[in-house]
Amino acid sequence: MLPDIITTIADIRERVGAAKRAGQTIGFVPTMGALHAGHASLIRAARTENDFVVVSIFVNPTQFGPNEDLARYPKPLDADQQLCGALGTDLIFAPSTEEMYPPSFRTWVTVEGLMEGLCAESRPGHFRGVATVVLKLFNIVQADVAYFGQKDYQQARIIVHMARDLNVPTDVRVLPTVRETDGLAMSSRNQYLDPVQRRHATVLHRALEQARRLAATGERDGKRLVEALTAPILAIPGARLDYARLVDLDTLRPIERLDKPALAALAVYFGTTRLIDNAQLFPPEAARG
Ligand code: PAJ
Repeated sequence: MLPDIITTIADIRERVGAAKRAGQTIGFVPTMGALHAGHASLIRAARTENDFVVVSIFVNPTQFGPNEDLARYPKPLDADQQLCGALGTDLIFAPSTEEMYPPSFRTWVTVEGLMEGLCAESRPGHFRGVATVVLKLFNIVQADVAYFGQKDYQQARIIVHMARDLNVPTDVRVLPTVRETDGLAMSSRNQYLDPVQRRHATVLHRALEQARRLAATGERDGKRLVEALTAPILAIPGARLDYARLVDLDTLRPIERLDKPALAALAVYFGTTRLIDNAQLFPPEAARG
């Protein structure tokens, strides 16, 4: 069955409120639409673990910079509704920009220390927009559990931290990255790639795997691990490295030695399309201490 598309905050509150009064638990998956198998994995988890599932589809303007892809961001609402229906979604919340940001809007959420490095460097203001819209969505939907993807690791860390700091009564769950068969992380932005760029884009995953293998052999030097991450990207014509970093899993600050599990994170431009990916690196069992 096709889930209803609800566009106002009052209506979504009423429908979710009715489900709660009937004793149902609420699972929530915030998205910007153009849904793919990565989103589907979050919706499936929400379906399995809750009685009532809400998916939001809102291309949030406050998380896009002036030169980013807000205007061209894909909006296949009919296909999204079909997929949500096939996955057992109960309701889609798809508000207008005016509904979310009336002209009087002036409150912003920042999570200090986590909104500075990695993606924040080339996308100033991005995470402030993300945290603000996600807190608004949390307050509107009032779900028991909300689901996010590890592909956007920095985003997930920020949301987990925000929810803890601000005593948000929704549990935040972060689920693994879903990939194409050739390793490319699923992303709504993959459809911007031309066939050559699409083939080259697998380099993010290959670079991460190379760094993982090197770590598994006992290499702990941060510089060498970052070199292993960087070299495959530099070898691809038409790929432009934004960043390649080894960072602490919690603080997201760069680390110099792999003495405990850490995050390898990449952002690469293909033309104007910017792709990100990440993987956890582990020192070999024997070398952990
Ligand atoms: P969007 O890019 O649509 O992603 C929605 C959710 O799907 C995010 O939690 C993201 O991490 C997850 N996701 C995307 N690709 C994935 C993949 N390949 N595997 C697993 N999960 C994946 O992220 C946003 O929207 C927005 O910033 C949002 C949180 C909705 C706030 O506007």
